[in-house]
Amino acid sequence: MTLIQRAALAAIATTTLAVKAGEVEVLHWWTAGGEAKAAAALKATLQAKGHTWKDFAVAGGGGDNAMTVLKSRVVSGNAPAAAQIKGPSLQEWAAEGVLANIDDVAKAEKWDSLLPPAVANVMKYKGNYIAAPVNVHRVNWLWVSNDAFKKAGAKVPTNWDEFFVAAEALKKAGIIPVAHGGQNWQDFTVFESVALGVGGADFYKKALVQLDPATLNGATMSKVLDTFKKVKTYTDKNAPGRDWNLATAMVIKGEAGMQMMGDWAKGEFVAAGKTPGKDFSCVAAPGTAKAFTFNVDSFAMFKLKNEANIKAQKDLAAAIMSTDFQEVFNLNKGSIPVRLNMNLAKFDDCAKLSSKDFVETAKSGSLVPSIAHQMAVPSATTGAIQDAVSQFWNDDKMSTKDAQAKIAAAARTK
Ligand code: GAL
Repeated sequence: MTLIQRAALAAIATTTLAVKAGEVEVLHWWTAGGEAKAAAALKATLQAKGHTWKDFAVAGGGGDNAMTVLKSRVVSGNAPAAAQIKGPSLQEWAAEGVLANIDDVAKAEKWDSLLPPAVANVMKYKGNYIAAPVNVHRVNWLWVSNDAFKKAGAKVPTNWDEFFVAAEALKKAGIIPVAHGGQNWQDFTVFESVALGVGGADFYKKALVQLDPATLNGATMSKVLDTFKKVKTYTDKNAPGRDWNLATAMVIKGEAGMQMMGDWAKGEFVAAGKTPGKDFSCVAAPGTAKAFTFNVDSFAMFKLKNEANIKAQKDLAAAIMSTDFQEVFNLNKGSIPVRLNMNLAKFDDCAKLSSKDFVETAKSGSLVPSIAHQMAVPSATTGAIQDAVSQFWNDDKMSTKDAQAKIAAAARTK
């Protein structure tokens, strides 16, 4: 072969590679410490397949900002290849006709046999896969600073009475009892754990999944709201507007005693080099040990035109469900793999407890979708109830009765 022939061959090889390699623009809101590490794992997985990752991160815990930006991008005909969209919103986006059918990937990778059916159904629209799930987050956790509790001589609470006893002890010791970030989605996250703890799983389902008017207007709901508002009295005056990870940092440093937050908070503890059991504890939010509010993150795939990018998008979908990715991603994210039958040897005790409780609560009927994290009801209804809950949290003059009426009215939003 002459030099020129060799050069020509090399050029052909590069062009073929270039045609195969595509770009995937991925919208997500994972910008905090543990979240960013998890997102980096996703990026590395895609890059290992020879594709280019175009980061489309929109900061803002809970994803409200990201969803607003996504809407304007899709409306202007410029959708990203993949976007972090969850729960019933997946159906809403699919109904707009903008999501891609990724059944070929799902069939080849046998997703139907690797996912809990309840999760698989959410990832499908009219029987076709339109999204790939990455994890299972548990929302009903209480994160505890072992140092702060030791200093205060407080006992880790298992029910609401014990919670307020511990909060008093922390306060007396000069420690902020509850680390909170006053943003609507964080208020809502605390609210749903209080609802689950005070009312139990059946109440939670009737009130916050079925939106039953009698339950929303009933006595248990009123008790939930009183308890919720009492929690606020143990937060600090700088809570309004604070990002969730900064609230977690207060617990990490022992400035605050506890935080009610999903297990993405564990990602922050771990990223800060902290060890569960030793530096901090993960326990079920008061009264919720036998229940589980789930929050499954997933990536919806948008319709694309460019062949190479479609290939890259499919490779991303396949990679997301691989055992390697599910392990490394979830170790950083604080969640557990959504893929069934994974080896959890590398996971900590919080993740092992989560995994055990996920299976047990699925059997007992107390596995419930997180309303605060868009798993339970349509997005417009979620937003309306969330706003009503935060109005009550923020307005110390609003009565429980008025709040209850507002929430029940918001639940009728379609
Ligand atoms: C949740 C999301 C988690 C985590 C959290 C805070 O809605 O499911 O993955 O990122 O928001 O940003």
